[in-house]
Amino acid sequence: MRQVKISAKITYCRLDELHSDEKNAIEAAKKACSSAYAPYSHFHVGAAVLLDNGTIVVGANQENAAYPSGLCAERVALFAAASQYPQQKAVLLAIAACNDKGAFTEHAISPCGACRQVMLETEKRFQLPLKVLLYGASEIVCIESAQDLLPLAFTEAK
Ligand code: THU
Repeated sequence: MRQVKISAKITYCRLDELHSDEKNAIEAAKKACSSAYAPYSHFHVGAAVLLDNGTIVVGANQENAAYPSGLCAERVALFAAASQYPQQKAVLLAIAACNDKGAFTEHAISPCGACRQVMLETEKRFQLPLKVLLYGASEIVCIESAQDLLPLAFTEAK
């Protein structure tokens, strides 16, 4: 038998403790919430991907009457970034969420498993850690690599 302990480093911080490119990505994610199509959940999520060349690509959750056909903001943003700039490395992903009255969540929302899997593939594809910033009105959660969000992730069978 062999036991392994897996740990992750998570930093809680305030907006004024972040670099300007990180703040800009968070502002873009907050703004992107207004592009959500969320008539079923009324939960508006915005995501912003910062690329190596400084470009920010945003996405928002897009729902569908056939519920599983919808897509989370994170994957909308990551797939849009990769479609529009396939050669540009993704360096950071910021996420924010608000209700349909525009009130942002007090605490950071944490991405679903499917989005974590896509984040991890983004890291693998570009051979670069993807920094993840989860916005909450009272504090921001910073994760240095998507790997910290998904230990024991699926990778192609060898
Ligand atoms: N959602 C996201 O877009 N990102 C997350 O990290 C969590 C959930 C969306 C999916 C659905 O449209 C709505 O939020 C409610 O779950």
